[in-house]
Amino acid sequence: MRVILLIIGLIAIFYYASETLREKFLINADPWAKPVPAKRPLRLGDINFLHTTDTHGWLSGHLNQKTYNGDWGDFVSFAKHMRQLAQAQNRDLLLVDTGDRHDGNGLSDITSPNGARSLPIFVKLEYDIVTLGNHELYLWENSAQEIDVVVPHYGENYVCSNVEYQLPNGTFVPLAQRVRYFTTPQQKLRVLAFAFLFDFTRANKKTRVTPILEAVSQPWFKEALAAYPALEVDVIVVAGHVPVTKRWTELQLLHATLRAAYPHTIIQYFGGHSHVRDFQVFDELLTALQSGRFCETLGFLSINLSSSITDIKDRFSRSYIDFSVDLFMFHAQKSSPQEFHTSSGTEVKAMLASAREDLGLDKVLGHVTTSNYYMDYVPLSHPKNIFHFLTHSVLPTLERNATSGPHNDQRLIIINTGSVRYDLYKGPYTVDSHYIVSPFQNDWVKVSLPKELALKIAPKLNEKEYILAGQQKGSSNDYGYLKPPHQRYMEFDTSRQARDQVPVSYPDLDGDADVKAQVSKGYVTWDDFGHSGDDTPHRAVINYPLPNVVQSTELQPGLDGTVDVVFYSFLISNIAAAVEELGGEFPPVEFYSDTYLGLLLDQYVAGHKV
Ligand SMILES: *[C@@H]1O[C@H](CO)[C@@H](O)[C@H](O)[C@H]1NC(C)=O
Ligand SMILES: *[C@@H]1O[C@H](CO)[C@@H](O)[C@H](O)[C@H]1NC(C)=O
Ligand SMILES: [Zn+2]
Ligand SMILES: [Zn+2]
Repeated sequence: MRVILLIIGLIAIFYYASETLREKFLINADPWAKPVPAKRPLRLGDINFLHTTDTHGWLSGHLNQKTYNGDWGDFVSFAKHMRQLAQAQNRDLLLVDTGDRHDGNGLSDITSPNGARSLPIFVKLEYDIVTLGNHELYLWENSAQEIDVVVPHYGENYVCSNVEYQLPNGTFVPLAQRVRYFTTPQQKLRVLAFAFLFDFTRANKKTRVTPILEAVSQPWFKEALAAYPALEVDVIVVAGHVPVTKRWTELQLLHATLRAAYPHTIIQYFGGHSHVRDFQVFDELLTALQSGRFCETLGFLSINLSSSITDIKDRFSRSYIDFSVDLFMFHAQKSSPQEFHTSSGTEVKAMLASAREDLGLDKVLGHVTTSNYYMDYVPLSHPKNIFHFLTHSVLPTLERNATSGPHNDQRLIIINTGSVRYDLYKGPYTVDSHYIVSPFQNDWVKVSLPKELALKIAPKLNEKEYILAGQQKGSSNDYGYLKPPHQRYMEFDTSRQARDQVPVSYPDLDGDADVKAQVSKGYVTWDDFGHSGDDTPHRAVINYPLPNVVQSTELQPGLDGTVDVVFYSFLISNIAAAVEELGGEFPPVEFYSDTYLGLLLDQYVAGHKV
């Protein structure tokens, strides 16, 4: 008996040991195996939305950043699966885009007119509500593309409540229908949709933006409210190229107006323009979602329409999906790429590939190997800051055009921080990178000034009042336009900055001790529901505030003498104003060089270890 027990015992020990060994062996057999970081699933409601905004041509995804490696073809596949998932449960899924499709990436910007190759790819996504942003209105040729290509393509799904354009005979007409009223396919919900652009004052002459303040007292708006009374509307959707922060007064005004007319109707805003992830609760039945920028983020929002809900968090749910194939597959519940890619998605991927080939976007000009260079994830003085890199390494290589006149030995070169559009990541530096980082084809000009005065210009331009001048509401004398968009409204939203400094824990993901160790750097979004909105937990990146301008200095000791102050020609009025405010006299401006920042960077990366 004892012998038998002993034998059983030995067998058990042997089994246990071999299991442990096997586990050990398996783990060791695959040294790269890592626990998969936790993800937060989407919560489907009765009506669901996928939202994009401020894509700015990034339809190929981020080729040097794995976190955002999804492209427009992957999104097309994902949207299809999500519609099917929703339909299978008799729920609705609507797709919304809130504009800014130009200016940000080689795919959109290398062609003439810009958008010629990217827009036909963009429209492969079957949006239910699509509208425009200010970047569709700077140049008439871009507005014309909306009118000739995008509006006809989407038909009644294109909504634009407060922008008009001019017919050849001089009459202004709405760019698209101002209001859309429709019934969803599954639940037969009656949706009333508007689409507003913020009070944008620099539109091309053939287009006209009516500020929301005026629009809501125009006859068409009153007629729309009368035509679709509360009893005939289940949900109101406002697609706005307007930041959703509560401090944006235009949105508050719209909110007050709509709520007065529809006291008990569920209303959902989708916003854009300031390039951030955000979600705001306006009242118990109204929330606003903003879904970032540049195909980094796909916004998800769901609403439970049940009348028995008392907690707003049970009614609305929001997620910021990292724009990546992994996350798309996870949410679509597809375990293999074969299952995930649809034929229409694959077709869009092929369109992207041939456009890139035809446009030469992947032509390699150099390599970035030593570091990523960030616009604002590190302070300005940090060697990994792109402005530090530009002012210390790149700008000093600027050569004076041979034809220009006499010059001084000392030099300052001033650039506005908005002259850089995006971080520079490790990897091949291509024609596309040039467009992504700094494509602006400006001439450099120069003035000679007493050194003491010259040194005060940049600090003057960076004074608080210059930054705040126009921030009451994006007006055209807004010096904030010297900065990149996501930085423009930071002072506007001081609570946001304070929150960014707080280290984040993941109470909803506790129990997975590996989470904290595994997470990559990325967005940690604090919004009105807390910080559980990012579908992938990240280690927070901090957006350090950027000044309006930075400068490179090639100076000798002492304050005497004259220096060449070099800057982009479009800054002439800013520099002149600063010099005059400093009590100086602004001398005549001379042409200096046409090697604009992007070209200079191309040459630098090609010739140096970067
Ligand atoms: C909506 O909320 C109600 C009440 O809490 C719940 O019974 C229902 O399952 C929810 N519907 C969906 C689609 O989640
Ligand atoms: C301009 O053309 C439009 C469309 O053909 C027409 O409706 C409108 O009356 C015309 N306006 C003038 C001032 O002729
Ligand atoms: Zn934008
Ligand atoms: Zn915008």
